[in-house]
Amino acid sequence: MKNNIVLAGFMGSGKTSVGIRLSYALKQTMIDTDKWIENRQKMSVSEIFEREGEEAFRKMETACLEELIRTCNNQIISLGGGLPVREENRKLLSRLGRVFYLKASPEAIYERIKNDTTRPLLQVDDPLKQIRMLLEAREDSYNACADVIIDVSGRTFDEIIEQIKDHLEEKGGIER
Ligand code: S3P
Repeated sequence: MKNNIVLAGFMGSGKTSVGIRLSYALKQTMIDTDKWIENRQKMSVSEIFEREGEEAFRKMETACLEELIRTCNNQIISLGGGLPVREENRKLLSRLGRVFYLKASPEAIYERIKNDTTRPLLQVDDPLKQIRMLLEAREDSYNACADVIIDVSGRTFDEIIEQIKDHLEEKGGIER
């Protein structure tokens, strides 16, 4: 297994914000699978969904993981929220690094994403209902790929970072 820190979780659970802070704290670079795909495709995630459909995007996520396994080590990798749903991707994740699932409640997620227009799956009449439904459908996938589950609802970023660092130290992942 590679020595990457992998952040999984639903949209709006704070993967990117936590990843950036962790990247400063540990002096490691960060990769975001959505940004990686956008750079490769020269299109935004919304445009990919619109022009090529969700299934095509999911295949791009698998291709992205395969390449990251070949090329990445000692980095922080923030995953698109739906990436762990494919079983194939969960198998790849187990080779990519230690997976931290940032677990958030539907209400906390809703508060973070309610004004966002960049996530195609949440552009619906009742986003909170959609979040509840998707989260319930995905919970098993998130739990199955997680090496560590971090409950992020009601926690500050500093608390979350400390908790992740504690886990890394326990396993000898950080040199001091
Ligand atoms: C998605 C999550 C998004 C992005 C796409 C689909 C999902 O990533 O990959 O809009 O299915 O949950 P974030 O979790 O970074 O928002």
